[in-house]
Amino acid sequence: MPGRGVRSGQGPRFGGGAGMSAAAPPEATPGDIIEARDVVLSFGPTPALQGASLSVAAGEILAIMGPSGSGKTTLLHCLAGILTPKTGEIHFDGGRIDTLGETERSTLRRDRFGFVFQFGQLVPELTTEENIALPLLLGGVRRAAALKEAGTWFERLGLEGLEKRRSGELSGGQAQRVALARGLVARPEVLFADEPTGSLDSLTGEHVMDLLVTAAREQGTTVILVTHEPRVAAYADREVIVRDGKVRSAVRTTS
Ligand SMILES: Nc1ncnc2c1ncn2[C@@H]1O[C@H](COP(=O)(O)OP(=O)(O)OP(=O)(O)O)[C@@H](O)[C@H]1O
Ligand SMILES: [Mg+2]
Repeated sequence: MPGRGVRSGQGPRFGGGAGMSAAAPPEATPGDIIEARDVVLSFGPTPALQGASLSVAAGEILAIMGPSGSGKTTLLHCLAGILTPKTGEIHFDGGRIDTLGETERSTLRRDRFGFVFQFGQLVPELTTEENIALPLLLGGVRRAAALKEAGTWFERLGLEGLEKRRSGELSGGQAQRVALARGLVARPEVLFADEPTGSLDSLTGEHVMDLLVTAAREQGTTVILVTHEPRVAAYADREVIVRDGKVRSAVRTTS
């Protein structure tokens, strides 16, 4: 595929991936792929979302920021069909997903969404190539083909030679790159990333973000990224702030 193996190594890029061949820039693909409308959700007596609304354009890389406990993870989980709002709606690709049953939602998550979490959450007993291949295997791809596809990620992640290493034997930065590849390997339409660099030092975190943004743009994957770090958010096309369970647009402060 064109663009495969392209590395940018150039830090934040705004406005839609100049120089990338495969992904259309966000402004060239009008229309929202995913949207939360006035979502309300509480955990028992604790309000988590109190009328949160957010639209994300296809191909956009969006950073969600905001104080601890403000509802960022809850919002991400609602958008991804993991949690169901008490009131409000979640739309994906033109249809409501909050009204789907659990089986349909888990199929949707498996086939069309990808996930990266703060601590990677790799399966420690599996090798790195098996961990990356996991979404393909769960989606019914045959083992040899899945491992072959997983193998294409090692060079561009700078992880050559680690294919057979158990994931429990990786450094934090290596593990997070493997988690990133696992999130993107099945070419999801939307990648949900909850503090994907939260456990890394800032230099390693920036490297992981650079890889994430480059790979997502190559594939045309929409990215919804929760982060506390302005330097990580600077890689996104747009930032929003969640405060008290509501979404507010942010004014970018970086130059
Ligand atoms: N499973 C749960 N049970 C009870 N309360 C919860 C649960 N998950 C989240 N909450 C509460 O809901 C609110 C929003 O939590 P959420 O995890 O969405 O915040 P966050 O913005 O992601 O915070 P952080 O930056 O610390 O990850 C908080 O008050 C939190 O304590
Ligand atoms: Mg959180």
